Amino acid sequence: MESRRIIIFDTTLRDGEQSPGASLDVQQKLMIAHQLARLNVDVIEAGFPVSSPAQFEAVKLIAEKVEGPTVAGLARAVAMDIDRCWEALKNAKKPRIHTFIGTSTVHIEKKFRKSEDEILEMARQAVKRARSYCDDVEFSPEDSARTGKAFLFRIIEAAIDAGATVINVPDTVGYSFPAEFGNLIDEIFKKVPNMHNAILSVHCHNDLGLAVANSLAAIANGAQQVECTINGIGERAGNASLEEIVMALKVRKDEFKADTGIQTEEIYRTSKMVSHQTGIMVQPNKAIVGANAFAHESGIHQDAVLKDKNTYEIMTPESVGLSSNKIVLGRHSGRHGLKSRLETLGYNLSPAELNLAYEQFLKIADKKKEVFDDDLEAMIESDIYKGKKIIELNYFHISSGNHLVPTATVGLSVEGVAYQEAACGDGPVDAAFNAIDRVTRLSVQLEDYQLHSVTSGKNALGEVIVKIANNGFQITGHGASTDVIEASIKAYLDAINRLMIKLRKSNDHN
Ligand code: KIV
Ligand code: ZN
Repeated sequence: MESRRIIIFDTTLRDGEQSPGASLDVQQKLMIAHQLARLNVDVIEAGFPVSSPAQFEAVKLIAEKVEGPTVAGLARAVAMDIDRCWEALKNAKKPRIHTFIGTSTVHIEKKFRKSEDEILEMARQAVKRARSYCDDVEFSPEDSARTGKAFLFRIIEAAIDAGATVINVPDTVGYSFPAEFGNLIDEIFKKVPNMHNAILSVHCHNDLGLAVANSLAAIANGAQQVECTINGIGERAGNASLEEIVMALKVRKDEFKADTGIQTEEIYRTSKMVSHQTGIMVQPNKAIVGANAFAHESGIHQDAVLKDKNTYEIMTPESVGLSSNKIVLGRHSGRHGLKSRLETLGYNLSPAELNLAYEQFLKIADKKKEVFDDDLEAMIESDIYKGKKIIELNYFHISSGNHLVPTATVGLSVEGVAYQEAACGDGPVDAAFNAIDRVTRLSVQLEDYQLHSVTSGKNALGEVIVKIANNGFQITGHGASTDVIEASIKAYLDAINRLMIKLRKSNDHN
């Protein structure tokens, strides 16, 4: 069967990060970008460099460190944005400048207070400037789905004439529906005379729950690139979900006759990493990556699936990387065994990281006996792939019970200096967090606390995600341990470390 190759443009780190409460720091973004490269996306949109020093730093680091995909940065259609974007991208092996301007009447009249001709000229100048730096330039007429067609076709033609190599058609507010959006793509191919000189991309938001359906309708009408995010996170109701588009194309190849380069077995791990790092959990019934996506509850279904999986399964859990949780290692597995298993899972650790990973692994293996892939992944995210640590846990002691006031003592090092504090609380976790607050003297609000078990069974690793707020910053922390109090303390300290780094950076800039 002859098939087309669809380009997967992942914007988890840019549009996805615009999800309310999903702010990621530079180290978290780098970790996710490495995982996106393992997933084999074609393009990573790493951020919006002009929007803040942290965004600039993240795009620059990803451009320098992440190999494989093209690395894109976003820029409004103004010189300052494009110059800053290039500054961040210039060391990438495959850089792309993505420039955009609003083109619908409401954007032109209310946001810009300009004429269509002025907007068209800004787009032309922006694309030319971007092309003076870089051979790969994407142009987006923002709010395309609500833009008058005559103007949309005119601005696309002008952008291609000015040197745009990719034209992206966004449904910025998730307004369109599949037949309509598919027709729009078809018309663009027919009415824009130079469209064959560029790649046609789409970028759909999910306000009416149609982002994936609209993206697929666009592909069916010839779109060559789709922009999407892991778990569908993004502004408001989010963006089109990468895993749903990719698996729809794979499962229904008969219909779409299209392929992607995605390593689908990496989907589940990427989804988990993004949800842990952003603190945005995946709903259990979410297609492809939800906890129930492959669970068969009814007896009739279970019986049929045991006879033949095809009865109720249109794809295998393994095809998206859901392993059957086989035992991988135990306490007698050596450092070499751990290293090689981690390499198979895609983690290439430095010698220092491997030492730390081995220490943590032995602690888990001691308590848990059987260490699964999921445990190793949680451990790596919780203990190894962390940025600089200002504050670290040395020890803790908890006294709690139904007739006791929960009390915690924590020993911490803050940049090498040891501190000990004790506090009471409503429960043992609250007491531990209060004791930590006494050391840091920061007044933080705990906005969210989530506890999950990584695998099943009494000895399962507990994974905690906390969200804290201070001084206008909202930060997520993540920790894992066989002891849920320890996992909670690790998650809280992870968030406090990120907060302290942000506070220092913002003081340096003031
Ligand atoms: O939704 C949108 O229009 C965007 C553009 C910047 C592509 O995110
Ligand atoms: Zn968007």
